[in-house]
Amino acid sequence: MTTPRRTEVLTVSPDRPDQGALHRAGAVLRAGGLVAFPTETVYGLGADALDEAAVRGIFAAKGRPGDNPLIVHVASEEEVAQVAASDGAGVDMLRRLARRWWPGPLTVILPKGPEVPDAVTAGLATVAVRMPDHPVALGLIRAAGRPVAAPSANRSGRPSPTEARHVLQDLDGRIDMILDGGPATIGVESTVLDLSVRPAVVHRPGAITMEQLRSVLGDAVAPLQVAEKYEGTEAPPSPGIKYEHYAPRTPCVLVEGFGEETTAAFLEALREERRAGRRTGVLCTEEGAVLFGPEADAVCVVGARDDFRAIAHNLYRCLRRLDEERTDIIYVEGVESVGLGSAIMNRLRRAAGGRILTAR
Ligand code: TXA
Ligand code: MG
Repeated sequence: MTTPRRTEVLTVSPDRPDQGALHRAGAVLRAGGLVAFPTETVYGLGADALDEAAVRGIFAAKGRPGDNPLIVHVASEEEVAQVAASDGAGVDMLRRLARRWWPGPLTVILPKGPEVPDAVTAGLATVAVRMPDHPVALGLIRAAGRPVAAPSANRSGRPSPTEARHVLQDLDGRIDMILDGGPATIGVESTVLDLSVRPAVVHRPGAITMEQLRSVLGDAVAPLQVAEKYEGTEAPPSPGIKYEHYAPRTPCVLVEGFGEETTAAFLEALREERRAGRRTGVLCTEEGAVLFGPEADAVCVVGARDDFRAIAHNLYRCLRRLDEERTDIIYVEGVESVGLGSAIMNRLRRAAGGRILTAR
């Protein structure tokens, strides 16, 4: 349980945030409090990464299982040495990656440094580190004067927040402060790349794509093979894999595949729901809206079929919105699993929790 607290919302400019606001938020972190802040991917819920009690507060506020570790956010490459133990090859790979994508939506996993409390890493020997590409996030870390542990600022299992109001919906009264810097640009969480193993492994696809990682690391990064629904009994390589995620409260079905047969199966499923007296929501592309919109009770359009940036940006907002429409079931149109599409499909498969519709 968390003790109720007043959640203060401070509006800040995303490009040139007010220093006074950042200093107040930094002071809250230094005092062991919880501050939600925008990043380029999604909103994070921050605490002082070196303060064990503060970090435990994150788990309590989110209702997050204690065995799911957090990402430590830094504002400079030098700070990595404060939280990660130097492992020659891993740090060397990070240096090459950081030159192109830090600050940016790339999280790397390295051996953990001794200063990081076990609560952050859920007892693992490794730590996840990232430098967010957002003036508010970077300003907050600098104002706090220490690394900031932050998961996405949603209640555990809910879609990640891409706007400050989503954070309020989930965490009002449970955290101290929200810095409202407007909508997050990218909309899906960072790529998680494990540099503590050889070859390096992507645990979570994101905006830095497999294709991009391979352009720098070549075969030193293994082909993408992320467990969408973890069914093993051994410890998963990345604890986040085993939890149902990104899910609206309403059951969600992912329609996978393209072409006429898939369209026919999608339409038939919507008509069948209607015959059964159930209200349907559809999350789809602009092209899909023309086909499926007339058969649905609520529609949210994420973008044109080949515009993965728009789709990623609008994905979680649409999942939350369709949830509010009080539909009985949400059908989601899939996209092609390449580039940023891999990150989109990874989140959608997990939101659907294994409920997949294909033409056959
Ligand atoms: O874009 C993002 O990464 C956002 C923003 C706020 O930075 N953060 C985010 O954090 O998505 P979270 O906690 O929702 O997801 C972190 C993921 C989880 O799946 C977790 O299991 C994995 O990273 N992770 C963290 N530390 C790990 C470790 N040492 N080994 C393997 N996986 C780890
Ligand atoms: Mg999360």
